[in-house]
Amino acid sequence: MRDIQQVRIAPSLLDADFGRLAEQIAEVEAAGADLLHLDVMDGHFVPNLSLGVPVVASIAACTDLLLDTHLMISDPARYAPAFVEAGSGSITFHIETSEQPLELVQQLRELGVKVGVALNPGTPAEAVLEIVSEVDIVLVMTVWPGFGGQAFMNECLSKITTIAERLGPEQWLEVDGGLNLETVPRAVAAGADTLVAGSAIFNSANAATAVEELRRAATEAARTRLEQRT
Ligand code: DX5
Ligand code: ZN
Repeated sequence: MRDIQQVRIAPSLLDADFGRLAEQIAEVEAAGADLLHLDVMDGHFVPNLSLGVPVVASIAACTDLLLDTHLMISDPARYAPAFVEAGSGSITFHIETSEQPLELVQQLRELGVKVGVALNPGTPAEAVLEIVSEVDIVLVMTVWPGFGGQAFMNECLSKITTIAERLGPEQWLEVDGGLNLETVPRAVAAGADTLVAGSAIFNSANAATAVEELRRAATEAARTRLEQRT
């Protein structure tokens, strides 16, 4: 079983208050967030629109956290360079958008940032196995992409386990969708190390406390996982 080296908490800004974004970022950063997860939607790959390049540039200006950019868009190759120029520290594309994923990964590599591949709930682990050794991040969606605040899909847990077994210690296994204090332990038990949370953080009474509690839950679950292994 793959060891979890470190758990990372990645607040998704989709549920943040965009009228006071800098303040909300400062809150989660002070609470120990490891990354900021930025959900980019094009109204085509997913039935919703969200933030674009100028917003990423504004966010980059107010934080040093890695901007973990989740492209839920049909043509990631076309727009990735602009996001990197704006300050994205990682670019994750959806495997469902690409017929030649290996070539896309090579193209994204040239941008000099971390490269990730994401899978929708209906996409099997096998779809990414060919390129898994070439990426820095595998992102398993545990809701259908497009909206925050949906319920965690337990049926995706076995896919997390399958992918975990294929990853090396430096690669990140990110889980996105429906994570909260109840579901984080399940994701970590299955092998996730990087946990995206939107509504559980920004729709809570206190975003900083929510980050700390999620980290505590994730760290505890990682310890339990290690104990069961040894
Ligand atoms: C969904 C996005 C997620 C979303 C997570 O399409 O990719 O990052 O914001 O939100 P919660 O944590 O509320 O499921
Ligand atoms: Zn996301």
